[in-house]
Amino acid sequence: MRHDRIDSSLFATNRCRLATQLGQKALAVVGANDVLPTNADGSLLLVPNSDLFYLSGVEQEESVLVLFPSAHDPLLREVLFIREPNELLKIWEGHKLTKDLVRDISGIQTIKWLSEFSKTFHAMMCEADKVWLNENAHPRAVVESQTRDARFVRACQDRYPLHTYGRLAKLMHALRVEKQPEEIELVNRAIRVTKGGFERVCGVVRPGMYEHEVEAEFAHEFIRNRCKFAYNPIIAGGANSCILHYNENDRPLVEGELLLLDVGASYANYNADLTRTIPVSGRFNPRQKLVYQAVLRVMRQSIQNATVGKLHRDWVKEARALMNEELLGLGLITREEILAETPEEYAGRKFFMHGLGHVLGLDVHDVGPMNQPFAPGWVLTVEPGIYIPDEGFGVRIENNILVTESGPVDLMAEIPAEADQIEDLILSGRSRS
Ligand code: GLY
Ligand code: MN
Ligand code: MN
Repeated sequence: MRHDRIDSSLFATNRCRLATQLGQKALAVVGANDVLPTNADGSLLLVPNSDLFYLSGVEQEESVLVLFPSAHDPLLREVLFIREPNELLKIWEGHKLTKDLVRDISGIQTIKWLSEFSKTFHAMMCEADKVWLNENAHPRAVVESQTRDARFVRACQDRYPLHTYGRLAKLMHALRVEKQPEEIELVNRAIRVTKGGFERVCGVVRPGMYEHEVEAEFAHEFIRNRCKFAYNPIIAGGANSCILHYNENDRPLVEGELLLLDVGASYANYNADLTRTIPVSGRFNPRQKLVYQAVLRVMRQSIQNATVGKLHRDWVKEARALMNEELLGLGLITREEILAETPEEYAGRKFFMHGLGHVLGLDVHDVGPMNQPFAPGWVLTVEPGIYIPDEGFGVRIENNILVTESGPVDLMAEIPAEADQIEDLILSGRSRS
């Protein structure tokens, strides 16, 4: 792993919080993700399973965690199964986790090889009445191939049809949405590295540079700081800024255009999610600046609106009302359109057609009970935008915030967002080169 060792107390705390939810005679199973195939003999790099990492700090493929807090045998209350290293693995894949290392990383005492899984799990199941099994329950998940978790659900229910089954994902969502202080620090580290990437880009951006060259500046900053991209970066010059999920990143930047950067670093699997929209030539033109400042006002006010107890739905409604007024001021919609809007269709949708923000953490679009009110410890993105294809540009600005009892904290307050700050950053970079 590239990141510094995380104190195992974080994972132990997370397991304790889950243990209180499982009930008597109940166990929970969380597995690693599959290494996904590509073409021929290729495969993708493993994407660690977020729940497994959250509960153990373990990222290695094929690992299985079984938690059985009420087990009679104290050694069976937390058991982590891992691949057994062998000479062939060592030659081809190098270092694999040892039992001692997994004990250190996770704070779990009982570490077994996978070959012991069936027998140990059977003993645990003979004592348990209820089993919590995992699934991807993100409302927007598109899962077209059968996951390791899904295979295990089938196999377990076939083998043990008389147990009661529960949906672990719902418990995990409720836990993961309330970040621990150590998790906030990891998100902050990803944010600091993202800031470094943004400043680096502002120092070198100029007309004629290609979008992928801008991407490479971020990659350099992220990788040297033990991070990776949290998601495919959107580096969108000119009219590409109106394409919400643009990621070809292959076009040259043109004098006078805006460049939309939606990029985040991921450190120790914790993600940042930043968007800035900057003028390629260092200065916004008057129209670009008006639109930019409208989006910034909506972002700033929406940050203030993200208070404890607020429902996501109401937060979005407030932002849409703000956005309607801004779009009116920009001459993009009329008062009549605002007055005629319906609860299903708000007037500004043509120019601001995506969500206002999402929870952020071990996943970029993180898991959490989004029908529950915001609570302390929630980390949210706030990302309004205005997209005007007829004028050849779009603006989005995205910060990450922490909901606290005493009000929202802008975790990206140090990343320049005011139009003149961004202009100064770009122009001072010009004058140095
Ligand atoms: N980059 C994805 C998002 O902003 O939600
Ligand atoms: Mn983003
Ligand atoms: Mn986002």
